[in-house]
Amino acid sequence: MRCTRKGLLVLGVVAACAAAAASADNGSERAIGERLAGIIGAGRSVVSSHQGLINDPDIGEKNLTGERVVAEAVELYEKRRGEPPVTEGMKEGERRLVEAALAAMREIVDENEALIDMKGLGFKGFLPATYTRLVNERFAEKVGSEARVKFTAPPELVRNRKARPDAWEQRVLASELGTPGWPMGEPYTEAIEVEGRPAFRMLIPEYYSASCLSCHGEPKGQTDVTGYPKEGGREGDLGGATSITLFR
Ligand code: HEC
Repeated sequence: MRCTRKGLLVLGVVAACAAAAASADNGSERAIGERLAGIIGAGRSVVSSHQGLINDPDIGEKNLTGERVVAEAVELYEKRRGEPPVTEGMKEGERRLVEAALAAMREIVDENEALIDMKGLGFKGFLPATYTRLVNERFAEKVGSEARVKFTAPPELVRNRKARPDAWEQRVLASELGTPGWPMGEPYTEAIEVEGRPAFRMLIPEYYSASCLSCHGEPKGQTDVTGYPKEGGREGDLGGATSITLFR
């Protein structure tokens, strides 16, 4: 069910929507969703911070191991959120999800070590978003029947077919996160069936910052360094979203 403010007024389904909102707003599901998005997002920031090193054709051995990326991501996560990604008192199932994310983050860097260390090659296509997609795919291999994470974007902005939004993501991007009244940074949550199973879904908006615009900015259509046409985005525009599914 859709429970927008407009829906409340127009349809007068206040009670039904309140019930749906309560189940969609399960505090611990939202917290674990934010934890997963937070740690994988920190990994993306760490890869981004090393982009110059990764693209350096003159250095072979770069010492950018999976262990190091994870350690730096955990440090960044703690700085951003004031606690480590795995804490005492977490439920077993929640701990397993966060540990699966950390393992995926480590494995994907380690598996790309030879590429990252390749001498004589500048741009290697090992970008924050690519890293994130590979981590999300590995995470699904580990815990896909329990949870999924996806880095997606509105259809007109999507670059990689694998990141295309599904019907629910497309609707929430268009009619919630992408509307002028949506509070900046606020996630959208909903209790809804996914593949016939009850699930908690969450979409966390991601906006373009200045650093994104060399690829996603203007002029629209011009080829960027990665070979994709630029989207014509501007600073502060909705650039995409992290989509979390937790099966119940
Ligand atoms: C060096 C160029 C470059 C920069 C800088 C860059 N991106 Fe991207 N972005 C890409 C490429 C290439 C992909 C497709 C990656 C893949 O293969 O999955 C992508 C994918 C994405 C996606 C996933 C959906 C899709 O289109 O496949 C989002 C969301 C995104 N970028 C947002 C951002 C944001 C936000 C920033 C800044 C914080 C940023 N990007 C910076 C090149 C860039």
